[in-house]
Parts: sequence; C-alpha cells; structure tokens
Amino acid sequence: MQYIELTREKHIVGADRSSIKMCLKWPSRMGCHHVVDEQFAPNTLGVYKPKVGEQLLHRFLPHVSEAVGKKLWPVNSFARLVYKGGELRMHYDRPGLDWTLSINIWRDHSWTIEVHDDDGNWHSFEDLGDRAVLMNGRKQWHRRQPFKGREAYQLFLHYSEQPGFEGDPEFKLDYKPFFPKPPKAPVAQSYKVVDCLSDFELEKCLKDSMALTLEAGTMTREGLDTSVRKSEIAFVGHLPEWRWLSDRLAMTAREANDWGIDASGINGVQYTTYGPGSFFNMHNDRAEGTDDRRSLSISALIRNADEGGEFEIDGFGKIPMKPGQAIVFPAWVKHRVHNIEAGYRDSAVMWLENS
Ligand SMILES: [Fe+2]
Ligand SMILES: [Fe+2]
Repeated sequence: MQYIELTREKHIVGADRSSIKMCLKWPSRMGCHHVVDEQFAPNTLGVYKPKVGEQLLHRFLPHVSEAVGKKLWPVNSFARLVYKGGELRMHYDRPGLDWTLSINIWRDHSWTIEVHDDDGNWHSFEDLGDRAVLMNGRKQWHRRQPFKGREAYQLFLHYSEQPGFEGDPEFKLDYKPFFPKPPKAPVAQSYKVVDCLSDFELEKCLKDSMALTLEAGTMTREGLDTSVRKSEIAFVGHLPEWRWLSDRLAMTAREANDWGIDASGINGVQYTTYGPGSFFNMHNDRAEGTDDRRSLSISALIRNADEGGEFEIDGFGKIPMKPGQAIVFPAWVKHRVHNIEAGYRDSAVMWLENS
C-alpha cells in the first residue's frame, strides 16, 4: 500500500474529473451503462471503461510501473458512484487486477479504505483529493465501511503483472484459464503439498461454514454408500460469498500443476466436514469410462482432526499436512481420508477439468 501524489505530469485536470462524474450520472449520454454489485458494493453504481478512465489508465502506466518497480500491463478502468450507506465489503480482487490505483474524483465526506496487512491488522488509508492510493488488491483483503456522506465519485485504474488481461471488461476471466500450459504426457502417480490459505482465511472459512447446510457426500457412480464414504458436504462454488475460495483453489492448483495437465475448466467447490467415525475410502476422482473430465484435484485442509483423518496418496502413505496447506494431484491418482477418531476435519475440495 502506498500513495501516489497526483501532481505535475501526473495531474488529473478538472475536465477529466467532470467527465468521470458525467459518465456516472448520465451514462447513456456518455456512451456507457451502469452496472450494480449488490453482493460486494451495495448502494453504489459502476461504469466499466469510461473513455477518460481509459486515457488515464494509459497515462498513468509509467508512473504506476515505476512505483511498483515492475513492468505492468493496463487492464481496465472502472468508475463508481457511491451513495450514502454504500460500502465495499471485504474482498480481494479477481485474477488480472494485480495493482489498483484508487483515485478520489469527488466526495463530500471522507471515506477510508481498510486493508488487512501482513501484520494481521486492518489499516486505514484515504485517497484524498490529489493523493491516490496504490494497492495490491489481488493479495490484500480490503473493505470500506458504509459511506456517511451524500455522494462519492471514485475512479479505479487496474494493472496486471502479466499480459493477456486487457480487453476483458468484466469478470469473463474469473473462472477461465489464466495460466494456460501446453499438455504433456500425464504423470501416473504424483502429488504436491503447497500453501493455500492464511490463518485469517481459515478462520473466515470456519465462521462462514456455520451458515452452510451440509448433507451426506456421495460418489459419482455408487451414489450414497456409507461403506465407501462418510462425511458431510456442501457445494459452495455458486455462492458469491465463497467465490474467493474457488478463485484461490483454482489458482493454487494451476500454479502447482507441473504436470502440464489440461486444467482449464473447473467443476465445483465442495466444503467437507468429517466428524468422529467419518472417512473416505481409497478412490480416484475421475470416473473412468464416463464423460467425466476431471483432470486435477485440490484439497485444502481447513481444520485437522484431533486424532486420525490423515490424507493418504496411494503408494506414498499418509501425507502430513497443516491447516492452510493444500494437496494437489492428478485426478486419476488414488487417495483416501483415514477414519476420524476424535475431533473434526474440515477441507475444501475442487476439481479442475480438461477442455
Ligand atoms: Fe477491490
Ligand atoms: Fe477424492
């Protein structure tokens, strides 16, 4: 998180500010249209790629690159009009939006952005008149409390550390391949354990999972057979408040995918709780001989059982894992979860699919 002073060559002239306000107030006159986001930004209106915003996006590119110390690619601009009570709920940004320059166009009351920093605390920053806030919104959770003023006009300029995200005005890329790799010959038996969730995110998962309706897990072919599997699950991939987890699991799995497996699609996210006496016998995730396209599996450990509940990969034995870590493996590799003797084991599982 840092500030960029909008002075001299980095100046935004009054006409630019007026134009952004016009786009938000009378979008049809300015060739734009409104978008709303009731889930994450209630009581606000947005406009994608306002004309002046796109000009400023390119004008600021060298300054933002210099501040970050990396080559960056412009992605898009986004303007937002916030009414009294409008807020920005806790989130982090979608793939491709690595760096955001947040510029205050006009507002009649202060409105700080709160960022959850590496030290585990929330810190407040304000993008005042000529001081823009530059943040790595892709890595840091952020939010704004309900706005107490009458109106606030904001402009966001988004930059990526990789090419390929420009020309993508909305959320088209969210669940699409963003680390495409050429397919190689599949590896028969393999796995990787990688870091996936922070302590803060683990707590959030446990807290949010209280609101889920869990039901008995089934196998694709066998249906409900408690001799194969006993655990409680909920599919969460379609729930907006869990979307960040789909995004994180997909990204983690694709980054760990050294096998060159085609994992461009996704097939649901499952939140699973194993209580005492629960288990999942040896199986693989890809139902061979069907049109199942599951190619890569990821299982993130959210809570470890007090006793038992170890994850085993066929041929490698029990794999020690800590909460926050995820195990990634080709979907055809056999695995199991040992019987839980005491306590509860929570995990989030996602399958990625070939195209
Ligand atoms: Fe954001
Ligand atoms: Fe499995």
